[in-house]
Amino acid sequence: MARVMAWNVMRIGNLGRMGVLWTLALLYSYLHLLFLYPRLRRSPYSVPQSRAAASDLKPASIVTGASSGIGKATAIALALQGFHVILAGRSLKRLREVVAEIKRKHKDVSVQALELDLCLVPSILSFVKTIQVLFEGENPPGKLQLLVNNAGILATSQRWTSDEFDCMMASNYLGPYMLTCQLLPLLYKNAPRARIVNVVSFTHRCVRSLQVDEGGLMQGTLQTSSYNGDWYSLARIYETSKLCMLLFSYELHRRLHSKEAPSQISVMAADPGAVASNILREMPHFLVGLSNLVLTLLTLLQSPTVGAASVVDAALAPWEISGKYYFGGRGLTCQSSQISYNRNLANELWEASAAVSERVMSRYGAN
Ligand SMILES: NC(=O)c1ccc[n+]([C@@H]2O[C@H](COP(=O)([O-])OP(=O)(O)OC[C@H]3O[C@@H](n4cnc5c(N)ncnc54)[C@H](OP(=O)(O)O)[C@@H]3O)[C@@H](O)[C@H]2O)c1
Repeated sequence: MARVMAWNVMRIGNLGRMGVLWTLALLYSYLHLLFLYPRLRRSPYSVPQSRAAASDLKPASIVTGASSGIGKATAIALALQGFHVILAGRSLKRLREVVAEIKRKHKDVSVQALELDLCLVPSILSFVKTIQVLFEGENPPGKLQLLVNNAGILATSQRWTSDEFDCMMASNYLGPYMLTCQLLPLLYKNAPRARIVNVVSFTHRCVRSLQVDEGGLMQGTLQTSSYNGDWYSLARIYETSKLCMLLFSYELHRRLHSKEAPSQISVMAADPGAVASNILREMPHFLVGLSNLVLTLLTLLQSPTVGAASVVDAALAPWEISGKYYFGGRGLTCQSSQISYNRNLANELWEASAAVSERVMSRYGAN
């Protein structure tokens, strides 16, 4: 099995895209930030959340994939800003260890762990139910006003969920899409102003075109350039899932901020850059070492805390800001790829995602 995975990664298509194209995409993002974008956009943080009046409920947030890496660093930063933070992930054991670690280091913070597997629709539904009970019950831990869709994987072999989604596509896009749609009514009800932050990636820049159809969405094979049926196109599927997340972020922003239906919910995309985390856990060790060495020599590899800065910037930006792409920390935003702003494509993706989601939700008696 391990051999098959290693072989999948080593196929020249995957290696070329990850080693060369992804590095170029990252360099391009920094160049864009530094030279091409006419004015660097810096946004200050919003009114410090922690200074809410004593009688007010704390602001509360959900961070998915908070058991390690960028999600864990984001959860800590938000807790220190005064949020009650719900750390969500597949392993309750790992999450509880992180909660204990945070409480040991920071005595006054308010954090809790909840199980969520974005590959499993019943897990998403049960998580949403728990959140509803928690925030609509008698002693809510705060006002839910922030959802950070951070969880994600880079899978090296094809695995299928019980609903026949490619696991990487389910973890990185379809699961977060369904979670967000399910939580929207509660976000509306619970807070006068709320925000959704979607963690995306510079690798989206490698996607030149997408052809949206429901089958391709479930399999992750939406890029129009060829897929080789013999091996898992992990690089393309990862990039595609991240572009889908970006198209979804902008489309949700447009739908929530149309003239007919103005809303107080803002939507942001945040790109952490290259971060030394567990994201490469399925890759052969020598390739992880090589990749870390090259990125370190190029001074592009960051710690999870530094990488999480763009996520925290997006989460804490003033309320009136929405539909932006945060990258580079220090409150900086820049432009994502041209295709990510394609409204027709975003609309097609939304419709296909809604159809897939509706079908699968009805299997579990939800809508
Ligand atoms: N590292 C980078 O260079 C980089 C660059 C750009 C974007 N990103 C994005 O940043 C996000 C965080 O990645 P990371 O680098 O911090 O990687 P990481 O250390 O591997 O963290 C990923 C987190 O996602 C969780 N997760 C994975 N699959 C899940 C599922 N099906 N349901 C719920 N939780 C799930 C994992 O939790 P458990 O395994 O405990 O469930 C883990 O907490 C990802 O979306 C990634 O695509 C990373």
